Amino acid sequence: MIGIARPATVLKEASEVSITVDGREIRVLRGETLVSAMLGAGIAAPQRNPKSGSGRGPFCMMGLCQDCRVQVDGRTVLGCLTLVEPGQRISLIVPAKPQGDTLDGQL
Ligand code: FES
Repeated sequence: MIGIARPATVLKEASEVSITVDGREIRVLRGETLVSAMLGAGIAAPQRNPKSGSGRGPFCMMGLCQDCRVQVDGRTVLGCLTLVEPGQRISLIVPAKPQGDTLDGQL
């Protein structure tokens, strides 16, 4: 399981809330980002590589790489820029294989 360290002051002052990630309920700290909450719960790869199917985890943590896209209650957002709110239902996104792709086997 992957975990991240959270400063002690954050842990003392933050309240726990529940969110659901692909049907799995997890307890997270209100106010942290979705990516940090998921990493803390051991969910390291919100994306899948469209070619190999291997996991793709968040990379930049500042809204540039797009590898943290998830759906929150049906809306696509960047998990590194979206804060946890109680009761959110998160779906991990599995991108469709691109049409007319000519790069098979080259990644
Ligand atoms: S981790 Fe790169 S955009 Fe979110």
